[in-house]
Amino acid sequence: EGNALIDAFGRRIEYVRLSVTDRCDLRCFYCMPKGFSDFEEPEHWLSFEEIERVMGAFGRLGTRRVRLTGGEPLVRKNLPDLAARLNALPGIDDISLSTNATRMARHAQELKDAGVDRINVSLDSLKPEVFKEITGGKLEKVLDGLMASKAAGLAPIKINMVVMGGINEPEVEDMVDFCIEHGFTLRFIETMPMGDTGRQAKEGHYVNLQDVRARLEPRYNLVPGVMPGGGPARYMQIPDTDVRIGFITPISQHFCDTCNRVRLSVDGTIYTCLGNDHSLNLRPYLREGCTDSELEDLVIQAINLKPERHEFSERPEKVLRFMSMTGG
Ligand code: GTP
Ligand code: 5AD
Ligand code: SF4
Repeated sequence: EGNALIDAFGRRIEYVRLSVTDRCDLRCFYCMPKGFSDFEEPEHWLSFEEIERVMGAFGRLGTRRVRLTGGEPLVRKNLPDLAARLNALPGIDDISLSTNATRMARHAQELKDAGVDRINVSLDSLKPEVFKEITGGKLEKVLDGLMASKAAGLAPIKINMVVMGGINEPEVEDMVDFCIEHGFTLRFIETMPMGDTGRQAKEGHYVNLQDVRARLEPRYNLVPGVMPGGGPARYMQIPDTDVRIGFITPISQHFCDTCNRVRLSVDGTIYTCLGNDHSLNLRPYLREGCTDSELEDLVIQAINLKPERHEFSERPEKVLRFMSMTGG
């Protein structure tokens, strides 16, 4: 069966970012600042059965990839069980995970066995004190989790570094060297204004990644690279190696015209764009006993709401929900 999910701008939607919890054990200031307490009520969380139904509908409509996100997805109990159930759904053949890795030392092997193929790990600094300043947490735990993930055979492992002026920007070369040493793919990310941007003054830390690329190009002889998958990163490569460095540039060079994704939050809402509120909450329909074919119609309706692009530059104050609600 072909893909029935084509949005109003002709984009094929084949990828769902599934947020399984809005909670996290860290407090990265650009995502979920200290003191944040506006969490979803547990009775509003979709159960694994409900998630399976929704993802089954997406799968029948042509979705092929699911990425488990949070908050921190491993804060949700029994995540490997959910991964295994999603893996069994017809149509869905790629299950990935975005994690802070603090709990990966314990769960890497189980996740691998449940059918998670690849993971992306947030790692903004290799200096314990800077890591703590950004996240409130311990770097050592994350590094342990990373090494356990590698040992469990999760591959590729991609490192996500949100580059922030005056905080971790001087470390970009160290992070490249670290990723070369361990065989990780590195992606640099521009900060996006989500949530309470005024108070956090995130804009003050924004770094244009075109400048970072210009700084790294001569040092590593970077040439344009490729990476299958259709995600937001544009890749550069070190010649004669398989080392890739990705640049995720929602602000300096957005990628909305090739967008292939929507998000499902833990309360059952389909958010059709990271930078907009256009959404449809499936939970009331699920809990009133809608049929599978009604569920498919609702998913199609939601895809029709997807806007053309974000407006992070034009209206930085626009997106009031925090990143932690949809996991990026
Ligand atoms: P891959 O499939 O491995 O390419 O995953 P990914 O890069 O899409 O996922 P990941 O969770 O690692 O996200 C990396 C960064 O990209 C995060 O900062 C996300 O917020 C951002 N991102 C992912 N998808 C989108 C998108 O559709 N729009 C925007 N603006 N940012 C996105
Ligand atoms: N801007 C850009 N990236 C963000 N992330 C979280 N919040 C933001 C933000 N405001 C990143 C995390 C994680 C990924 C899923 O999203 O660092 O690696
Ligand atoms: Fe897609 Fe919206 Fe992200 Fe642009 S900002 S790539 S349209 S989700």
